[in-house]
Amino acid sequence: MRRSVITGTGSYLPERILTNEELATFVDTSDEWIRTRTGIRQRHVAAENELTSDLAAHAAEKALESAELAPGDVDAVLVATTTPDYTFPATACVVQEKLGVPAGAMAFDLQAVCSGFIYGLTVADSLIRSGQVRRVLLIGAETLTRLLDWQDRTTCVLFGDGAGAVVLEAGEGEGTVADRGVLHTVSRADGRYRELLHTDGGPSSTGTVGHIRMQGREVFRHAVTNIADAMREVMQAAGVSARDIDLFVPHQANVRILDATARKLGIPPEKVMLTIAEHGNTSAASIPLALDAAVKQGRAKPGDLLLLEAMGGGFTWGAALLRL
Ligand code: ACO
Repeated sequence: MRRSVITGTGSYLPERILTNEELATFVDTSDEWIRTRTGIRQRHVAAENELTSDLAAHAAEKALESAELAPGDVDAVLVATTTPDYTFPATACVVQEKLGVPAGAMAFDLQAVCSGFIYGLTVADSLIRSGQVRRVLLIGAETLTRLLDWQDRTTCVLFGDGAGAVVLEAGEGEGTVADRGVLHTVSRADGRYRELLHTDGGPSSTGTVGHIRMQGREVFRHAVTNIADAMREVMQAAGVSARDIDLFVPHQANVRILDATARKLGIPPEKVMLTIAEHGNTSAASIPLALDAAVKQGRAKPGDLLLLEAMGGGFTWGAALLRL
């Protein structure tokens, strides 16, 4: 049975760090409020001349290096992002050119907000398993701080910039949970709730990019239920239980959401990968950033069973189970 195996990971964070203390000098907030409500201590902010495609290309180069592949080996470039360089062309095409992925490769962006990486895994896995491509560069990249209203303390303290990437390659498995590769994914949406987390602009509506608007409490309430359901669904489909999970690598939205979800599923704190304190919420970039950190720290090793989840604007949400 054909499987999509992660053979390389990489990440990139912009140099500039914005701490809670610095934020509190120009927004009515405090380090204490942000830390206790969200778990965030700092976030990275892209330089003025740094675009999402720059962050994406840096992360992708590192992922290719760790997979011991060259740009010429890539069949498809997928960029999950809510903050593309341009309305069009796709950021993936810019990244293709920056990396030197040859003409003729597939390249497109994927918009599922914070769930973009899970949606991307679903799509990449389908492309590989259907035999259309053999090697996919899947990138989550965001310059989310560009969508922030710095006067709105209920949102501007939460988000940061960054990029993470994985290389997925076709491999052969037995069709069991012992196989390396993506074992099961679910990607879901419910557009009835789109007003709870949205931007108040867009190319077709206002001709502007808009700012992030969120009803935090409502998002929180839906997040825990939806994420837990998706996680249960992928585990059930693969016939594994929470005890079998070696590492839980969630979208880094809010430490309280992650604690509540892990507790609900019976995943112990030592098996939860947390990067939110240093990165903030980097939307589609947060899972591959956390995954790369886990690999570098030796917390995720080849053969480990990983559970991923995300929830974001739309609403969109999903989960993925994979063996590294
Ligand atoms: N600093 C200081 N005070 C603040 C701030 C701030 N940055 N933001 C809000 N407050 C105040 C509010 O004005 C309010 O004051 P009031 O009681 O005088 O009116 C008080 O704090 C409580 O506000 P709430 O919004 O009720 O605070 P809550 O405890 O719900 O925490 C938070 C807000 C952190 C956003 C929470 O609702 C949450 O985590 N929601 C989930 C949303 C999320 O994670 N979104 C990320 C994107 S979606 C995703 O990735 C899943």
